[in-house]
Amino acid sequence: MAGDYVIIDHSYDVVVVGAGGAGLRATLGMAEQGLTTACVTKLFPTRSHTVSAQGGISAALGNMGEDDWRWHAYDTIKGSDWLGDQDAIEYMCREAIPAILELEHYGVPFSRTEQGRIYQRAFGGMTTHFGEGRALRTCAAADRTGHAILHALYQQALKHQAEFFIEFFAIDLIMDAQGVCRGVIALELATGKIHRFRAHLTVLATGGYGRSYFSCTSAHTCTGDGNGMVLRAGLALQDMEFIQFHPTGIYGAGMLITEGVRGEGGYLTNSEGHRFMERYAPHTKDLASRDVVSRAMTVEIREGRGVGPNKDHLYLHLDHLSPQVIHERLPGIAETARIFAGVDVRRDPIPVLPTAHYTMGGIPTNLHGEVVTLRGSDPDSVVPGLMAIGEAACVSVHGANRLGSNSLLDIVVFGRAAAQRAAQIVNGQGSPPPLPRNAAEPALTRLERLRYAKGGEPTAGIRELMQRAMQDCAAVFRDRPTLEEGCSRIAEVYQRFTGVSISDRSLIWNTDLVETLELENLLGCAVTAVESARSRTETRGAHTREDFPERDDRNWLKHTLSWLDASGKVSLGYRPVRLTPLTGEMKSVPPQVRVY
Ligand code: FUM
Repeated sequence: MAGDYVIIDHSYDVVVVGAGGAGLRATLGMAEQGLTTACVTKLFPTRSHTVSAQGGISAALGNMGEDDWRWHAYDTIKGSDWLGDQDAIEYMCREAIPAILELEHYGVPFSRTEQGRIYQRAFGGMTTHFGEGRALRTCAAADRTGHAILHALYQQALKHQAEFFIEFFAIDLIMDAQGVCRGVIALELATGKIHRFRAHLTVLATGGYGRSYFSCTSAHTCTGDGNGMVLRAGLALQDMEFIQFHPTGIYGAGMLITEGVRGEGGYLTNSEGHRFMERYAPHTKDLASRDVVSRAMTVEIREGRGVGPNKDHLYLHLDHLSPQVIHERLPGIAETARIFAGVDVRRDPIPVLPTAHYTMGGIPTNLHGEVVTLRGSDPDSVVPGLMAIGEAACVSVHGANRLGSNSLLDIVVFGRAAAQRAAQIVNGQGSPPPLPRNAAEPALTRLERLRYAKGGEPTAGIRELMQRAMQDCAAVFRDRPTLEEGCSRIAEVYQRFTGVSISDRSLIWNTDLVETLELENLLGCAVTAVESARSRTETRGAHTREDFPERDDRNWLKHTLSWLDASGKVSLGYRPVRLTPLTGEMKSVPPQVRVY
């Protein structure tokens, strides 16, 4: 191997990649149980994307009205358009209650009711009595809930002596010839040194692939790094075509305006001043499921009822809310709207547009966070040594569409579940076995190829082509011609990437190199997403096909699996949705017509 690499070896029971809410909850849980735990993160932990989660985290605590975790599970299944696995959904909604109380004890400064209980607000698709009433289920720390959770988890992880490797970029998994994951290779950005982490368990908590789109609420760092690593290891991703558009991104800027605004009484209007959601979701109106609201907004704009000089966005009003509600419950939104839209929310509506927000697809796992192989005779067999959690994973609790405030829940519940499983797997084992001498070779070969790439195409230009193609061809509404165009544009971008050029060969703080590694990860996500979308000839959740407007349970009540070969060719497979709950404590919810 050519190159001037200094390689440093580490050995831990567990290495967690990513320090967002999922990574930190797992790190904390593992360290708390006495496992030696390293957390490798490309960002300072409290800058991870969870910091920008605003509105809250769901759990049927019933602090502000009656509630039941079975109603929460029903809403989540319906929200998923029946693509969510009901055993995993039962687990998440039931475990939500102890998981939130744990967060409270870890020190998360939740907003409070007058009685001192955790404050809970309304969110889209969250109901009582199996769709009858409106649930107050989303636990909030004003409109900075992710920020509050991230800080508490980081402090707790430090308290339990987890070790952090901050501003280390994970390049690739170390897989052995038997298909066992043995650890991960990372680049230390400040020194250019290569670190080789060997561990009994490697946990990918690397977030979603929102940055494959041109306009999204995701941070620049949401580049599907774990998904890219899994694809390069020859493993499958699941349900990559399901990408959620949040109804209220700030027009032109993309920043999130929390659904909590509508939970506190905010509403959308069109150019005629109408609250148009009354026509699309007569029962729940502005608090219908996100896919429903985003579709309705897109139809309003298409039919000429958008606002602004180009009639290409809509208005979100909170000018009727009391200054006290804005001050106590939505202070961050008031600030964001002022800075990024120049709007004083006490007087004027916020210009908004559906914006790519959350990627339901990811690395398929069981409900302990173990990655499943999905090939061969036992479809549930796991990849030894490898786990995935949070937005990087697809467990699948969100199916075709996630309900707002179920993502913070997912990261906490499955981060905790992964820690519990890790203790069972690792306890009693000594240190992980030594790695073969050449264990870093595949990752370093890739690094070498990109570091010295001199093809003439700058990374930023290729990235923009990918983002524009995804935005134009795989957005709220899809059909065969746009998806065909999307597949061919993304395939072309994929090929162009072979001609990428890096201007700087240094390994130290080489942002061009890091962005190129990230772009390669994003491209794997984009190509599997468009190919999966083209093949799915039905409408389900966030995947709306105008040429196939109905959900087709007979042919499509199944998860899409996608593999990527080295030439960029995607192969697809399918596996059934699990409609049977985990225990007898809740009934299966058979597919029904989905109206709000
Ligand atoms: O609207 C929001 O506050 C976003 C929450 C979520 O995506 O769960």
